[in-house]
Amino acid sequence: MQNQTVLVTGANSGMGLATTIALARRGAHVVMLCRSQQRGNAALAEARAQSGTDRIELMLCDLGSLASIRAFAAAFLAKHSTLDVLVNNAGVVTVKRQTTTDGFEAMLGVNHLGHFLLTQLLLDAILRSPNGRIVNVSSGAHKIGRFDFDNPFLVKGYSPWRGYSQSKIANIWFTRELARRLALEGGSATVNALHPGAVGTNIGVNRDTGFGKTVLRLLRPFFLTPEQGADTAIYLATSPDVRGVSGEYFYQRLVAPISELAQDDALARRFWDWSASQVGL
Ligand SMILES: NC(=O)c1ccc[n+]([C@@H]2O[C@H](COP(=O)([O-])OP(=O)(O)OC[C@H]3O[C@@H](n4cnc5c(N)ncnc54)[C@H](OP(=O)(O)O)[C@@H]3O)[C@@H](O)[C@H]2O)c1
Repeated sequence: MQNQTVLVTGANSGMGLATTIALARRGAHVVMLCRSQQRGNAALAEARAQSGTDRIELMLCDLGSLASIRAFAAAFLAKHSTLDVLVNNAGVVTVKRQTTTDGFEAMLGVNHLGHFLLTQLLLDAILRSPNGRIVNVSSGAHKIGRFDFDNPFLVKGYSPWRGYSQSKIANIWFTRELARRLALEGGSATVNALHPGAVGTNIGVNRDTGFGKTVLRLLRPFFLTPEQGADTAIYLATSPDVRGVSGEYFYQRLVAPISELAQDDALARRFWDWSASQVGL
């Protein structure tokens, strides 16, 4: 990955940090997108120490704010004209219903809409790469995902699983529709989604929004480590095996089945248009 520029979202924790370290070790220049200066600085120091390189930089962005994403994209493009790999990894699980700065339900807002806007704003830079790759970290939870255009932000009937699973089927619809659009343009850029497995990270235990650290401590022996969980994302970001492969969903480095609803490409197109209108594109 020498001379390649990589952007990892949610890079201060869990699989984002593991992905950052692994790609920096392979020689990439990694930009860590984090929302907190303090957590970002600590993770930057750890990533530099563990990878043994200082080709890693920290840039701040709150994916729960459209203004923050636009400011981030402008700052990123001022420094980097080409983006070789974008790993859309950041994610939240909230027990109680929360909203982003723009009033979106937080899981749909951050896990999908924030990444949807970020990707569009950086797409020209990705298309300038000879083999641009977009890697979307989805989840097996997409299998119970539904979406109601009349209640997208779950004002009625909120539950953490309903919100999380709809944000993760959203990642797959986005992947498939973007793959279709990239193919129409005829370039070499690809986009794929993945399920990392059940991984012991901070997701769902984050600060005041989650399930609490006791649950994680009890379950940790059954989970993969963040390094193991990041394996498929790193594979999709780097392997020559998947050059030219696009619009797929991977688990353990292999194309894996997705739910029937996730395969509904007409719905994916309608959802794309809805997403574009929400983020002001
Ligand atoms: N862990 C699993 O078992 C599992 C299973 C399937 C899929 N996934 C997916 O894997 C991905 C990575 O999650 P993880 O398990 O590694 O969790 P994690 O350790 O909690 O990492 C999530 C990252 O996302 C960042 N983030 C959250 N909200 C953000 C925002 N508004 N703006 C910018 N960054 C934000 C977090 O930053 P802060 O530290 O500042 O909160 C953190 O860096 C997620 O997309 C998740 O849905 C995880």
